[in-house]
Amino acid sequence: SKAAFVLGTRPEIIKLAPVIKACQRRNVSTLVIHTGQHYSESLDEIFFSQLELDPPDVNLGVGSGSHGQQTSEMVLGIEEQLMDATPDVLFVQGDTNSTLAGALAACKLDNIDVAHIEAGLRSYDRNMPEERNRIIVDHAVDRLYPPTEETAALLRDEGIPGDRITVTGNTIVDAVEMYDETAASTSSTLTRLSVDKGEFDLLTAHRAENVDDRDRFANILFGVAAAARHRNNEVIYPVHPRAADRLESFDLAVPDCIRTIDPLDFFDFLRLESTASLVFTDSGGVQEETCILGTPCVTLRNGTERPETAFVGANCIVGHRPDDIVAGARRMESKSGEWEPPFGDGHAAEHILDDVGLEDQHAERRAET
Ligand code: UD1
Ligand code: UDP
Repeated sequence: SKAAFVLGTRPEIIKLAPVIKACQRRNVSTLVIHTGQHYSESLDEIFFSQLELDPPDVNLGVGSGSHGQQTSEMVLGIEEQLMDATPDVLFVQGDTNSTLAGALAACKLDNIDVAHIEAGLRSYDRNMPEERNRIIVDHAVDRLYPPTEETAALLRDEGIPGDRITVTGNTIVDAVEMYDETAASTSSTLTRLSVDKGEFDLLTAHRAENVDDRDRFANILFGVAAAARHRNNEVIYPVHPRAADRLESFDLAVPDCIRTIDPLDFFDFLRLESTASLVFTDSGGVQEETCILGTPCVTLRNGTERPETAFVGANCIVGHRPDDIVAGARRMESKSGEWEPPFGDGHAAEHILDDVGLEDQHAERRAET
């Protein structure tokens, strides 16, 4: 059996790593196609080396561009690779343009099962490019792996047949459980940044709808700074390249109490997430990780496709107005972090491979002889 993977961005590398590793443990041969959507070392290579993944078998080098250009170049390149390699199954993860391109290319080819990991998430905000990507992908693929029963129900409500859907948990739990202890014992980021456990806040903001709008980005920075000042905290902000571009082109002044730094590797970022007093974010993965790690999260968006985090009390959704951000931080600062994470048992990768029928190839061969 052969399993192919299409990935292209930071969160896809992190969330597919447990599945690629599970294939290796089962002696299933893999083909990893990197679209090249992310190409900066700090968003790409660093994760392959730190998570001890082999370099991708193919890198299409598509890079940045308009949605249409990026996606269509990816589809052409992926199709060629899949026609050549004829894998049994193709895995895509999440909601990026790379996810969409992988699903589109593979669902038109015969004899490849297309599987969507982290299916069924819905923000109900169609202005987000990710929301349209998710909907198209979920309706195009053969196998859907939603993280929770709630997301599976959303898929069935959209008319997707139940026999295509299996709840597996989210592979981010596998990744956090795999690396959290290593992060705690090896990362020296607290010392390097001269911050003390529990006495700083962490910010990530990179979503197009937030950072591509000057006023909205300025409001977020102002609101987060006000919330942190009120609690005498400094804020560490590892800046995604999209946000860095916008800070420069909008000529936005970042308030003093927010310290901007380059994007971090996974271990350093996990360390900051688990030791921060509060995390402010518009990231999907960060909402999940803070919930898993027991750190209260304030989400700088008007809605979330991860409502489970709010239901368990780990997250509050505040939007981008400064007063709402300050009020959200007040609400979350007293939280103990003792909620039950809702994203599965940390064996999502194994559940996915079991469901898709990728068994240990050596065991199969041994049984045949
Ligand atoms: C993409 C995903 C988003 C995901 C995010 C993860 C889509 C539509 N968006 O957003 O869902 O949350 O990745 O981080 O797929 N850039 C670099 N170096 C890079 C990559 C990008 O400098 O390696 C800069 C370029 O200026 C580029 C901009 O970032 O134009 C945006 O990159 P792009 O891949 O289009 O979208 P992201 O904002 O990264
Ligand atoms: N992350 C990281 N370094 C950083 C910021 C984030 O390693 O400086 C990781 C984080 O732990 C999470 C993932 O990147 O696993 C989230 O990616 P991002 O926010 O870019 O995308 P989203 O999840 O919103 O699609």
